Amino acid sequence: MKLIRARDYAHMSRQAANIISAQVILKPDSVLGLATGSSPIGAYRQLIDWFNKGDVDFSKIKTVNLDEYIGLNAENEQSYAYFMRKNFFDHINVRSENTFIPCGMNTDEAQECARYDALIRSLGGIDLQLLGLGPNGHIGFNEPDDVFTKGTHRVELTEATIQANKRFFESEEEVPRAAYTMGICDIMQALRVVMVVSGEEKAEIVKKAFFGPVTPRVPASILQLHKDFTLVADEAALKCF
Ligand code: GLP
Repeated sequence: MKLIRARDYAHMSRQAANIISAQVILKPDSVLGLATGSSPIGAYRQLIDWFNKGDVDFSKIKTVNLDEYIGLNAENEQSYAYFMRKNFFDHINVRSENTFIPCGMNTDEAQECARYDALIRSLGGIDLQLLGLGPNGHIGFNEPDDVFTKGTHRVELTEATIQANKRFFESEEEVPRAAYTMGICDIMQALRVVMVVSGEEKAEIVKKAFFGPVTPRVPASILQLHKDFTLVADEAALKCF
C-alpha cells in the first residue's frame, strides 16, 4: 500500500486527479472504475479543468461505476447515474455509451448482478478503480459482514450508511434501503486501486481499515492485500497516526 499525505481536500483531489490523468494519458482506452459520494467530487472537478485546458482526453475511456440504489431510475436526481452525469460525464468527452452503472430499476436481481459482472469481464477488467470510504469502512456498498462477497450483489444498507447518506436526500425516509454494488473480487481484480479520504470524521475508520486486521467487518481492510493500492488522504483523515 502506498500512502499519499495531502494537506487538505483540495490537495487530495489534485493528487488523485494526477494519478487518474496519468492513467488515461498512458492508456487512452483505460477502463476506469468510478465512485460517487462527496470524496471524489474534487478529483472530478480537477479532471474537468484539465480536460478543458486540452491536457487530457477521455474520448476512448470506458467507465464502470461501483454501485447504484435499487428503485431509482437514471433520471432521478438522487441516483448515482445522475450524480455521475452532473459531476463528471456531462463535462468531458467520454462517450455516454461507454459509461456503465448497475441498473437500479432491474427487479431481477440475479440477472442484474450477473449482467454487471459479465460486463466488467467483457471490458477486460478495470485498469484503475477509484474509491471513497464509507464511515463504517464500506467500499462501494460492500457493508460490514461476516464474509467478503465476491461479485456484484444486492445489499441492504446499514443504518450507519442510511444516516451518512441522508444528507443527499430531502428526508431520511427517501433514502433507498438497498443497492446493487460491485463485489470485493470485482474491486480487488482492478489493476490499480486509488482511494480518496478526507476529514477528521474518517480518521478512526482509516486507522481500522489500513492499520488494523483484514476483516469483512471492515470491508476496506481487504485493500491492504491489493498489489497496487494507493491511499490519498488528507492530514485530518490521518490524524490517528
Ligand atoms: C456512498 C458510496 C460509496 C462512498 C461513500 C462515502 O455510500 N456508495 O462509494 O465511498 O458513500 O461517501 P463520502 O465520500 O461522501 O463520504
